[in-house]
Amino acid sequence: MQKHAVKLSVFCGVSVDGFLARPDHALDFLHTGEQVPHGFEEFYGSVDVVVIGRKTFEVVLTFEKWFYGKKPVVVLSSRALDFSSVKGGVVEQMSGAPAEIVGLLKARGFKHAYIDGGVTIQRFLAAGLIDRLVITRVPVLIGEGIPLFGAVPRDIRLRHVATRAYEGGLVQSEYEVGATLPMSGSPIPDAE
Ligand SMILES: NC(=O)c1ccc[n+]([C@@H]2O[C@H](COP(=O)([O-])OP(=O)(O)OC[C@H]3O[C@@H](n4cnc5c(N)ncnc54)[C@H](OP(=O)(O)O)[C@@H]3O)[C@@H](O)[C@H]2O)c1
Repeated sequence: MQKHAVKLSVFCGVSVDGFLARPDHALDFLHTGEQVPHGFEEFYGSVDVVVIGRKTFEVVLTFEKWFYGKKPVVVLSSRALDFSSVKGGVVEQMSGAPAEIVGLLKARGFKHAYIDGGVTIQRFLAAGLIDRLVITRVPVLIGEGIPLFGAVPRDIRLRHVATRAYEGGLVQSEYEVGATLPMSGSPIPDAE
């Protein structure tokens, strides 16, 4: 069930101990073992805008080539950003509460946003705005790093959609983000 006019999805890779990146932002551990297609291309084709946090943007800028092609990219930051080094991409900045960002995306006519970056995902999750999580676990423990998840204001109930295991040990689980539970544990209905 989609919560808003704009669907918000997460599609990310993590170590089995839940890290998106090493403390220094290195992503090398994601590529341990055999690389097999695990649905990213299909997912990427289904989104019409990418929304990333400023720290993810800074890492992406170090890649040889602009990672997102011609797909519109929104970088979230509370500070002024310089996009002059983005060659060939379509990038703009937004800032504000997650609900305000969704309002801006809706006003722009976007239908399906790919939300990325740890803190960024956590803020949208806490605001109850993420519709779908696709998490691919890479078979490695790295001990420390930048976590995918963090503190939540209340339990966030997930509906398991599917788990897929790939050659080489990737395990991908897909969830719909559903009703929230207050800390007492008594269920409350999902706000429509
Ligand atoms: N493994 C994977 O699949 C994967 C995927 C994505 C990212 N990563 C890695 O994760 C790391 C980055 O994650 P992270 O948790 O450190 O940070 P992040 O989410 O990429 O960026 C956090 C920053 O985004 C800005 N921000 C987020 N929400 C905002 C909002 N609503 N309004 C205004 N600004 C907002 C803030 O920037 P300001 O401080 O400028 O205000 C905040 O400090 C990088 O190493 C990246 O490579 C890995």
